[in-house]
Order: sequence, then structure tokens, then C-alpha cells
Amino acid sequence: MDLSRRVAEAADLVTVALDELLPRGEGPESRLTEAMRYAALGPGKRLRTFFALETGRMFDLDDRPVLRSACALECIHAYSLVHDDLPCMDDDDVRRGRPTVHKAYDEATAVLAGDALQTAAFEILAHPDTHPDGGIRAELVARLAHASGARGMAGGQMIDILGVREDLGGVARMQRLKTGALIACAFELPLVLARAMDGERHALMNFAHDLGLAYQIVDDLLDAEGDEAAMGKAARKDVEKGKANFVTLLGVDAARERLGVLAGQTKAHLDPFGRRADFLRASVDFVLERRQ
Ligand code: IPE
Ligand code: IPE
Ligand code: MG
Ligand code: MG
Ligand code: MG
Repeated sequence: MDLSRRVAEAADLVTVALDELLPRGEGPESRLTEAMRYAALGPGKRLRTFFALETGRMFDLDDRPVLRSACALECIHAYSLVHDDLPCMDDDDVRRGRPTVHKAYDEATAVLAGDALQTAAFEILAHPDTHPDGGIRAELVARLAHASGARGMAGGQMIDILGVREDLGGVARMQRLKTGALIACAFELPLVLARAMDGERHALMNFAHDLGLAYQIVDDLLDAEGDEAAMGKAARKDVEKGKANFVTLLGVDAARERLGVLAGQTKAHLDPFGRRADFLRASVDFVLERRQ
């Protein structure tokens, strides 16, 4: 099976599972549940899900715990995008090729939809269907909470919003928190489920960190020169807003060069897994070549 089919299959699986897991409201609060569903069921690439499912396969894990973990991660990711697009943050009108949640609904609904998607993530992980062992469930919750909070995604968003004209080290640190932490979680959650050994954990987390870095450099390149229609979101925002990112600091050519070096380094972390990691290895090129 080729990689893009495998990614599409992962996207279908998580969208069906999320459709079942997310609440459907009755009464006036149904506006909130509709907005949550609009945000989480929209046509995202679902790459975090793909990474989680492939890691699960590498460790021969049962599908259900991994898929539920991926659902939780997609809820957090969707919430982060809803809030990221708000007028008080990036002020974007288009996401995943459709109006952003505050445009389709209103700002207050978008804030609440983000809040409720965040708590839905932890409700999913804490449910016994995710894993029979309460200790494992608590660890999944702790890992996702850490990756989402002040020392993860939310902290990275704070640094981004402050917009300090940072050096490259500062931008790399911002990226590790803003994007890297949730991407790393796509590997961390299956590692918890697999009760993986330290050596395997280290190798895969090193892979995840470099992959997350590559992901953000590509996002910054797309912002600088990507096609808005293909991306399904606005471009040229970072320059417009004077944001420090890899491309605004390095320039397009140097950022590309850095990506080339990073690609080899990222794949090398998978050496200990041999052929078992073939799809993850190929996903590095997929991330580098993405146009959306
Ligand atoms: C966009 O994430 C925001 C970043 C972390 C760079 P994705 O590129 O994964 O967005 P979707 O989920 O496919 O819409
Ligand atoms: C946002 O980064 C990442 C999170 C939502 C945590 P960006 O602001 O660069 O993402 P896009 O470009 O709007 O998707
Ligand atoms: Mg942003
Ligand atoms: Mg944004
Ligand atoms: Mg961006």
C-alpha cells in the first residue's frame, strides 16, 4: 500500500471515530456541539493520527487504544487551531478551506468550542475503553496535558504571540513547544501503550523532535510562498505580522537547505527499528513535500 493511501486511511478512521465520540447536543447548547464538530471533523490532514497509528503498528498494538489516543490528540489540535485563528491571535478567516469557527459561528462560540474540545480530549483518554489499566490511562492524560499546556503548545503560542524578534535558537525553542510537543505526543502516547523500553523511546522521541522541526519549517515556507487554495488557509501572514520564524529569519533558500540536512538526520533516528519503520521513514519525505 502506498503512503498517501495509508495517510488517507488513517484520516478516515479518525474522522469516523471522532464523529462517534464527540457529543451531539440538544437544546440551546447544540450550537456549541455543532461548532466543536465543525472544527474537529473538518478536512484536516490528520498527520498526527497517521504517526500514532503507524507507531502502534510498529509495536503490534491493538487498534482501539491507539485510535482513541489519536482522537484525543486531534481534539487538542483542533482546539489549538480554533483559538489560533481568533481575532485576538492570528485573526484568520479561512481554515481547512472553510470559514474559521469564529466566522462560521461567532467569537464566543469559538472560544467555548476550543475549551470543550480540550476537555473532550481528556474525557476520551480517561474512559476505560481507552485502556483497561487505570495507570496507563493516567499516564496518557499526563503526557497529553503536558504537551498541550504552558510547557507545550500553549507556552509556544505565548512566545509566538509576544512576537519578540528572536534569534534562531529562540525560534527553535518556540517551535518545539508550539508545534513540536503535540507532534511528539503522536509518538509518545503509543509508546506509553506499548510500555516501550528506554532505548526505543529515545530513538523515537529524537525522530519525533526532528520531524516536528521539519514540519514547522515547511509550514513557515508554505506561509512565505505556498498556494492559499491548496493550503486551505491564508498565506503571507507571518511576514505581514512581522513574526519571527525559520523563513523570516533564515530566508527561503537557507531554510530549504536546512530541511535537506534535517531529512537525513530525522530518518537516521529510525535505524534501530529496521524495516518495521518503513512507513514512518517515508513519512519524512511526505512532510517535506506537502503543499497543504
Ligand atoms: C497546522 O497544523 C498548524 C501547525 C501546527 C503548523 P496542520 O498542518 O497539521 O493542520 P491540519 O490539521 O492539516 O489542518
Ligand atoms: C499555530 O501555528 C500552531 C498551533 C495552532 C499550536 P501557526 O499559526 O503557524 O499555524 P497556521 O499557519 O495558522 O496553521
Ligand atoms: Mg499562530
Ligand atoms: Mg495561525
Ligand atoms: Mg503557520
